[in-house]
Amino acid sequence: MSLPNEILRRRTFAIVSHPDAGKTTLTEKLLLYGGAVQMAGSVTSRKKERATVSDWLEIEQKRGISVSSTILNFDYNGFRINLLDTPGHNDFSEDTYRVLTAVDSVIMVIDGGKGIEQQTLKLFEVCRKRKIPIITFINKMDRPSRDTLSLLDEIEKVLHITPYPVNIPLGNGNEFKGVWDRRTKTAHLFERTTGGAFRAPVKTCGLDDQLVREIVSESTYQTVCDELEMIDNVGDSFNVENIANGTMTPVFFGSAVNNFGLELLLNGFLEFSPPPQPRQSKNSAVEPESDFFSGFVFKIQANLNPKHRDRMSFIRIVSGKFTRDMPVIHTRTGKKLRLSNSNNVFGRERTSVDEAWPGDVIGFVGGEFLNIGDTLCEKPDIAYQEVPRFAPECFAYLYNPEPSNYKRFQKGLEQLVQEGLVHLFTRKNALDKNVLLGAVGPLQFDLVQFRLEKEYGAASRLETTAWKIIHWFDTKSVEPAQLSIPHKSALVQDDNGRNAILFEGDWQVRHFLEKNPSIVFN
Ligand code: G4P
Repeated sequence: MSLPNEILRRRTFAIVSHPDAGKTTLTEKLLLYGGAVQMAGSVTSRKKERATVSDWLEIEQKRGISVSSTILNFDYNGFRINLLDTPGHNDFSEDTYRVLTAVDSVIMVIDGGKGIEQQTLKLFEVCRKRKIPIITFINKMDRPSRDTLSLLDEIEKVLHITPYPVNIPLGNGNEFKGVWDRRTKTAHLFERTTGGAFRAPVKTCGLDDQLVREIVSESTYQTVCDELEMIDNVGDSFNVENIANGTMTPVFFGSAVNNFGLELLLNGFLEFSPPPQPRQSKNSAVEPESDFFSGFVFKIQANLNPKHRDRMSFIRIVSGKFTRDMPVIHTRTGKKLRLSNSNNVFGRERTSVDEAWPGDVIGFVGGEFLNIGDTLCEKPDIAYQEVPRFAPECFAYLYNPEPSNYKRFQKGLEQLVQEGLVHLFTRKNALDKNVLLGAVGPLQFDLVQFRLEKEYGAASRLETTAWKIIHWFDTKSVEPAQLSIPHKSALVQDDNGRNAILFEGDWQVRHFLEKNPSIVFN
């Protein structure tokens, strides 16, 4: 197939949600639809006995949360779908943000009983900033849910994005009987099966069909008619451009665990989500159809599989065709390297990949000098600026309680810092030379300790600190040695050698600024 055709049939996306809204269940069911996995265990049995394909890391199994993202891909109706799994816990925002730089659209899952929750809001902000098209799935309609109009209203008011309900639910809780598709004007009536059958049996018909009147109670029927009238009269009309620029979201209702509404969601997703998009390099955008290969590293992970203790860099392909063993330039350093050990990573599994196209993600083993955010390209002058760095919001000292293990401790820590799991700081002008770590969320520290122990055999002891705010500053504005550092603040250098100050709270920042009026924060 030609490059333009390969691009057109690709969709690269992530599912975002507040923990527990049903992201794992939806992922599992979508894979099932795509034939990528043979059997969907119920989430309960998975959590007790085994990991889903996407939830493989041991710490995730233990805690029943997703902390590390993997890549899943499958073919469906002629499309090649790349699903980049994002960590589900709200602590893990930095890794999640990075994954969002590598996708072209997202499915946002909302619990119909709860509406928009904190984590959804945070993730949504990133999507909005990046103008990523968002497809909304309101899940758990088989449970008592908030009413349809208030959920739509909340999307509009809280997220400031126009909802376009592609379908609306016919009841909720025990009364949830299906959805009404507004565009095709058909009711999709679901049949409950024990455990949620792979494809829930569906009957379709018109809204005033006898079948609907028999299945749906009179009061639900009346509510649906009222809601429809309201939405048709005052709701915004469908606008493809607004969906593409992320200001309108098509909304679908259903129940992931019961497989209700998932085929409608998947088909709608394929229709509304864009194929691989251009990415910005310096002052110009690079189109996926460009005749040269290019991509950027958005994630690095060591010891992905205990069988292969190696370090994998995940590269999102932006343009051109990738072929195994091709020579590329690491544009940050100008170094040349061959992409020989290239893999398709699916959960825990990996297979070697010979060719790949824009929108695909390849896992590359080798190139120890690769960092998150780096560009690999056949041309030397491309540099993507996709991966932002986030300011840590918690800081902790990490101690090595077993001096005989120094080497392992050091090697593990170095690797985990390179993966971007935590940031390393050194205190300037301080007597203590202990390891100071910074993270966006405290769970990242747990993960560091867990992985140090598990993968490097190095025990560690953590001591949290009261610092919560970091400000980098311009050394042109003031020499670090001339600063007056208030009690309880600290002058540090990050892993790139940049100077910063740590504070416990806003009042301290204000006090510091009063004492050092010439400083310019970056
Ligand atoms: P997450 O990845 O977003 O954290 O959520 P996950 O899929 O793990 O789902 C969280 C819980 O919600 C699970 O229950 C799951 O079974 C349930 N769930 C997901 N989709 C639906 C749905 O459409 N309807 C209903 N009623 N529940 C749904 P759990 O308490 O972890 O286990 P279980 O014992 O209920 O299976």
